[in-house]
Amino acid sequence: MTPQIQAFFDQTTATVTYVVHAGAGSACAIIDPVLDYDPKSGRTCSLAADQVIAFVRQHGLQVEWLLETHAHADHLSGAPFLAQQLGGKTGIGAGIRSVQRAFSAVFPAHEARFDHLFAADEAFSIGSMQARAMHVPGHTPADMAFQVGDALFVGDTLFMPDVGTARCDFPGGDAATLYRSVRRILSLPPHTRLFMCHDYPPAGRAPAWESTVADQRAHNIHVHDGVSEADFVAMRTARDQTLAMPTLILPAIQVNINAGQLPPADTNGVRYLKIPVNAF
Ligand SMILES: [Fe+2]
Repeated sequence: MTPQIQAFFDQTTATVTYVVHAGAGSACAIIDPVLDYDPKSGRTCSLAADQVIAFVRQHGLQVEWLLETHAHADHLSGAPFLAQQLGGKTGIGAGIRSVQRAFSAVFPAHEARFDHLFAADEAFSIGSMQARAMHVPGHTPADMAFQVGDALFVGDTLFMPDVGTARCDFPGGDAATLYRSVRRILSLPPHTRLFMCHDYPPAGRAPAWESTVADQRAHNIHVHDGVSEADFVAMRTARDQTLAMPTLILPAIQVNINAGQLPPADTNGVRYLKIPVNAF
């Protein structure tokens, strides 16, 4: 089964949102939608989400699922806004519970805010399309890769071959665990289409987000065939020590562990995102 896939690349956060469907009038899932957020002004807007809405309406698609591959640290989820406009159930991996626990001392969370928590390797359907939520922890404990026919949405496990892999230094992240998740992905049939959640292209290359298992096994700079777990862990751990926190991690985490829902309004009617001082 070869689903149709429409990608939307958000330049600001380098995030790719996908609509996976079976043609005009079919059911669809939206994966990793973005709500624009400007940290200087504190304003959200729906420019990115509006493009997805236009595509869904233009093709007469029925949204069954709004899927998060994990609790993102670099953007606010657009899932609640899209659910309001288009319908659909929100879903994330059951590992979100341990992400919520890790942040619970600073940011309270409610697991019930997600419509569905996927168990490891749970099968589900998107209309007539069979799908599977493949548990691929390592970047975070909640990471799921969503398999629909010959396509796999890999979240933050793999990046394009010339970029490599995602960091593993967030709470609950672990480089050896990521290595094993990546090997599971790369044991799928070689022609499997892989869709990245981000692209941070090297100078001179335009953003791209699609590769294959064969391509990654041959060319991924961090995990091509022949790289051992020990070598990967040493490389990943050293590299993670050099990385700054993502700009939006504090706003993003407190919203995204609550299924993208903004905090309730204060008594003055204003919603506030909280910045903890010296807590991390
Ligand atoms: Fe991520």
